Amino acid sequence: MTKIYGMGENKVKALDDASFSIEKGEFVLIVGSSGSGKSTLLNMIGLLDRPTKGKVFIDGTDTTKLNDNKISAFRNKKLGFIFQFSNLLTDLTVLENVLLPRQIAGTNGSAEKDARELLKIVELESQINKRANKISGGQAQRVAIARGLINRPSIVLADEPTGNLDSVTSKIIVDLMKSMAKKLNQTFIIVTHEPDHFGDVDKIITIKDGKAFEGEPLAHPEIIA
Ligand SMILES: Nc1ncnc2c1ncn2[C@@H]1O[C@H](COP(=O)(O)OP(=O)(O)OP(=O)(O)O)[C@@H](O)[C@H]1O
Ligand SMILES: [Mg+2]
Repeated sequence: MTKIYGMGENKVKALDDASFSIEKGEFVLIVGSSGSGKSTLLNMIGLLDRPTKGKVFIDGTDTTKLNDNKISAFRNKKLGFIFQFSNLLTDLTVLENVLLPRQIAGTNGSAEKDARELLKIVELESQINKRANKISGGQAQRVAIARGLINRPSIVLADEPTGNLDSVTSKIIVDLMKSMAKKLNQTFIIVTHEPDHFGDVDKIITIKDGKAFEGEPLAHPEIIA
């Protein structure tokens, strides 16, 4: 896909015919230097913005054909988001924050049981009823992971999920995401500046000047050049 921001002299080609595919259950990293187009790419996959040209297929659906209403519903159902800053609602408790995407989707059913289960996996059972502004940064990011998974999305998207954490906490969050990916056969697509912290993953996509290359930068002389 291609994404062009702005018009005339201010035109920026943030993505230049970047193309790749990801299978269910894959744990994928997106790497590349600042300004290379990583967040733009994630915003396209996350259906937060539309490509200027090209298509985004998710679970066999050509999402570029959906109108704005359908896109919102599709996004809510099929995608989970984890950001650099956990973006929790501070007036709500930990449990209420995790439940939010489920309430928006209108599929409450076993919501609370599911939320408690996820909070157990991220080892926050003891914090469930605390307000979100009374927990640490690492705990908040674990809440954000549980929230990102509550609708059992097809893909969890994360933009620098450890960018705001110290290296010890960062390692805990990375290990947690990897173990959840395995346990739940959950697809993750993660933008990171620190691929080394992730150890072995299924796929690395390097973005350079808006183009996508599969594999680490070292495997591609054209990326380093
Ligand atoms: N909303 C926007 N309007 C105009 N230009 C934009 C917009 N968002 C991003 N850009 C430009 O598109 C290019 C890619 O930006 P993007 O945010 O995707 O980079 P990135 O790889 O995520 O960088 P970083 O590692 O610093 O987060 C940059 O040149 C940026 O200035
Ligand atoms: Mg970015």
